[in-house]
Amino acid sequence: MKNILVLHGPNLNLLGSREPDVYGRITLNEINERLTKLAEKNGASLFCFQSNAEDQLVERVQQACADGTQFIIINPAAFTHTSVALRDALAAVALPFIEVHLSNVFARETFRKESFFSDLAIGVISGLGASGYEFAVQFALHHKNQA
Ligand code: DQA
Repeated sequence: MKNILVLHGPNLNLLGSREPDVYGRITLNEINERLTKLAEKNGASLFCFQSNAEDQLVERVQQACADGTQFIIINPAAFTHTSVALRDALAAVALPFIEVHLSNVFARETFRKESFFSDLAIGVISGLGASGYEFAVQFALHHKNQA
């Protein structure tokens, strides 16, 4: 059975009310429910975790190494542009991952164009709103991990 971990970075707990013109009206719970159902329908298991704290996200990535996680989908949010620690954690566990952004980070402020994750990721989805997570799950379901 495929085990997928979805990680959400800081302020994504506010989705629904946070800058709706940029991030839409969907809440994080609604996104997580959609993704969980999509995974279950396809015989996979999916676990979601959100934190506003860098150390919590680093710990969760480290745990993924031992808990049977086979694929990570991560929206590092503001940590995208700042966190060497989270990048290093993903490099250390060496699990395949997709970087997702709800907004098109390339159409926004210059500092959002820089990511500490994109070169390590299998791919990046940016600007497709909540659908971006669903496309990432679809990909993860069919991705074959190297032995
Ligand atoms: C974001 C884009 C980031 O630049 C920002 O800091 C976020 C959300 C997105 O999903 O579009 O918090 O990752």
